[in-house]
Amino acid sequence: MSSSETENIQPRSGYHHSKRLGVLIGGSGLIGGTMAHYFKTQTVEDIEIRAPSSKKLSIRNAEDIKTYLTRVRPDFVINSAVAALDSDAQLAFEVNYLGCVNLARACSALGIPYIHISSAATLPNGENLSEEDHLPLSPTLTHYAKSKFMAERTLRHMGKHEGLDFTIIRLAIVYGEHDHKIQGFHRLFFSIADEAMPFMITKRGVKHSYTNSNKIPYFVHHVLDHREEFTQETYHFVDKDPVDMADLILSIRSYLELNRPRELYVPYPVIKSGKYFLQWLASILNWFGISVRLPPELIFLENFYKSQTLSNQKLRQSSFVDPFPDETIYTALPKLVVYYLERWGHLNLITTFNEEFLGTFEFEDEFVNHPREILTSIHSDSISPFPEMVELRNESVRQGQNEP
Ligand SMILES: NC(=O)c1ccc[n+]([C@@H]2O[C@H](COP(=O)([O-])OP(=O)(O)OC[C@H]3O[C@@H](n4cnc5c(N)ncnc54)[C@H](OP(=O)(O)O)[C@@H]3O)[C@@H](O)[C@H]2O)c1
Repeated sequence: MSSSETENIQPRSGYHHSKRLGVLIGGSGLIGGTMAHYFKTQTVEDIEIRAPSSKKLSIRNAEDIKTYLTRVRPDFVINSAVAALDSDAQLAFEVNYLGCVNLARACSALGIPYIHISSAATLPNGENLSEEDHLPLSPTLTHYAKSKFMAERTLRHMGKHEGLDFTIIRLAIVYGEHDHKIQGFHRLFFSIADEAMPFMITKRGVKHSYTNSNKIPYFVHHVLDHREEFTQETYHFVDKDPVDMADLILSIRSYLELNRPRELYVPYPVIKSGKYFLQWLASILNWFGISVRLPPELIFLENFYKSQTLSNQKLRQSSFVDPFPDETIYTALPKLVVYYLERWGHLNLITTFNEEFLGTFEFEDEFVNHPREILTSIHSDSISPFPEMVELRNESVRQGQNEP
């Protein structure tokens, strides 16, 4: 669609709806889930969110995007979808790049804002990197970095040539609850909790930026409310101070009262050879029909040995006010420990902390050893409809009868 065609389409914000209606792609993921929860609980008066699963709307399919957005006619779209980190070139290209471009084309056609979640994977290593910094677009980039980088580039191009109203929000290493895939920082945390990291897989002085997932929805909300300021802009959304990786690992270790990892720093060449050995072993085992999947974070192994810190000066100079200025990865650690150790314990992924973190299971003995007794007992006294809900139904029946 050319820019002259889009000029005739009026934005619909505040026109058809009393509330703004947003579509959130990737709402089942770590970041999308946090946003879905925020908009469903904090903005009920003002914003309504539809968060279709990828089964309902796969952004790999341009027709799906057009049909869904034409039917829903939203006031804005947020894209937090991403293909698995270790997906092949086709999936990375179709989800991370083409999916983004097609969503942006639809938003451009409807004349609505498009909020895009991007990643520090588009940046080189280095310190105090600005929003203008980026990797050179080269064939050697990982599929993830290449596709995320290309998406950013095309959005800027569409802003310039098609007047697309977009904002790119670049995240660094994200921490927060509900990472059900155990990725990124949570994979590191898991390795420590599982005592699977005997030595320090980093070197002294390596620093990274971190993003608090709970703060992201507040920023997205603010960005939606202040389009003049944030349109066609890229922002680093990261905590103010970078974090020393070795210090973080040792803090988690001491919080969990573990002896591992020992404070011996494994040099990168050794760890790199280990990675190649594991990849070779996995491919050999595959010959025998044993499927071995290595953690996708191995693509970031080099980053454990190199600093990457993002400047958040532009964010601090914007009109956005951090809702929890004192919250950092360190202050969030106690909550994360309780949440993840309980979750991983229940999923039988780790057992070390079960006594401490798993609450008592009142029916354990009956459920495990006497299932017939517990079934009989539930049938005899715990299957009647909830009385307060029956009362609710009766009330609406009475109201219906009183209506003329
Ligand atoms: N997590 C981090 O540490 C981190 C760091 C920097 C940047 N980011 C960025 O943050 C964003 C979200 O990451 P995340 O960690 O929340 O990812 P995630 O937990 O892996 O979630 C990915 C989401 O993408 C959806 N999705 C995948 N393929 C799709 C498709 N074809 N159509 C529609 N939806 C699809 C998934 O939906 P289904 O479950 O329905 O398939 C899921 O909701 C990404 O842009 C990522 O680059 C994340």
